[in-house]
Amino acid sequence: MAIGNTMNLYDRIPNNVNLSEDKKLQRALEKWLPNYLDWWREMGPDGFQEKDVWLRTAIDVGSEGWAHFDYVKMPEYRWGIFLEPAQADAKVGFGDNYGRPAYQEVPGEFRNALRRIIVTQGDTEPASVEQQRQLGKTCPSLYDLRNLFQVNVEEGRHLWAMVYLLHGYFGRDGRDEADDLLQRRSGNPDKPRILEAFNQPCDDWLNFFAFTMFTDRDGKYQLSALAESGFEPLARTCKFMLTEEAHHMFVGDTGLGRVCRRTAQLMKEGDVRELGGIPLEIIQKYINFWFSYSLDLFGGEISSNSADFFAAGLKGRYKEQDQYTDHLATNESFTMTVVEDGGLKSREVGLRNALNEVLRGEYVKDCEKGLARWNKVLAEEGVSERLFLPHPRFHRHVGEYAGHTFDLEGNLIAREEFERRQSEWLPTLEDREYVRSLMHPVYEPGKIANWIAPPAAGIKGKPFEFEYVRL
Ligand SMILES: [Fe+2]
Ligand SMILES: [Fe+2]
Repeated sequence: MAIGNTMNLYDRIPNNVNLSEDKKLQRALEKWLPNYLDWWREMGPDGFQEKDVWLRTAIDVGSEGWAHFDYVKMPEYRWGIFLEPAQADAKVGFGDNYGRPAYQEVPGEFRNALRRIIVTQGDTEPASVEQQRQLGKTCPSLYDLRNLFQVNVEEGRHLWAMVYLLHGYFGRDGRDEADDLLQRRSGNPDKPRILEAFNQPCDDWLNFFAFTMFTDRDGKYQLSALAESGFEPLARTCKFMLTEEAHHMFVGDTGLGRVCRRTAQLMKEGDVRELGGIPLEIIQKYINFWFSYSLDLFGGEISSNSADFFAAGLKGRYKEQDQYTDHLATNESFTMTVVEDGGLKSREVGLRNALNEVLRGEYVKDCEKGLARWNKVLAEEGVSERLFLPHPRFHRHVGEYAGHTFDLEGNLIAREEFERRQSEWLPTLEDREYVRSLMHPVYEPGKIANWIAPPAAGIKGKPFEFEYVRL
């Protein structure tokens, strides 16, 4: 049963959490708001702040809530705090406190762990906006430009979602963390963002599509695990964020699919490079790069943190309630492949210690579906080459496989061999420069860059030719 869900859309901070009844929290957030807007103007999309963009805005958290599309200038976007409605009698759904009432406040003993989870998630949101801030200047079409900005404003709102939790439930140190979220900068050596994938440059559209396909998809799985949380405000927050995240992955998935289609078309005409397209080998290298960095985001294969978070009821498994019947996970074990004495060995670990790997496995399955869609496009265009995911051990910087070198099939290889062959597997400087050389803006409604196919449909019933951004 859903309870208490008044939408206050026209408050200074739009919300459905009855913010006006909590004066202290409202004041704290109203103090943070101008700092957020300063950050947005400094680090948000460069050069388009005063333009009208045809954006969707949440007007309700229900399924109809996304029906609202209109021209908005980005700094005037309705950023705010939207949670899924509370469920009466919500319970902790897994772990040692399984079946007890859900936590409405932060349990003291888990305070630090929970704050860390929220800060780490929160840090990724502004980071991606920073990574993408120059992309508007090289958009392949107005349709794509609008999608970029839609993703950007929603990542901004995701930051709001996490900041609400920090302000609302963590007192002084939560407020400090919320300030720090506006201080760090993607790729800045002195004050980098927390996770490495969010310090990698995302300065061309192939990077952008691979990022939204693979890195935003990590977000989907992290948010899904947190949507199961026994800390109810976090679960409700993440559930609503997931509805926004779906569009980001759509942008990446269909974006790469359109690049594949265009490349296949050009392959039939002649030399893809000479014709100004992106060769499949380069697409494959970008997949290898972003997939491997995104796998790192799940954390170590064997992790006492994952066990602690699960035991505490803070972070569950993907679809914990729908997919599992044993919510304690105390007796099961998980067989992991680890590197030992210079070779690959199997090791049994307790399931709770393997939950990062379990979540990563769900993610890999989901990514494979994307690959299948792109390969279907290649097949439709009559091209016999296929794209693939590298082995999850390839090119890892976190966990069991970090510090070792593997080929694309996951075979352990000598570092010298990896170094000798990495230009076949990962984008080289020359590849990146080539891709960048294709990136010229196309701002005319209905027109599209040569290296990508148009979308199958426009946004919300509008044709591709629609003026999605008024320049
Ligand atoms: Fe996000
Ligand atoms: Fe996202």
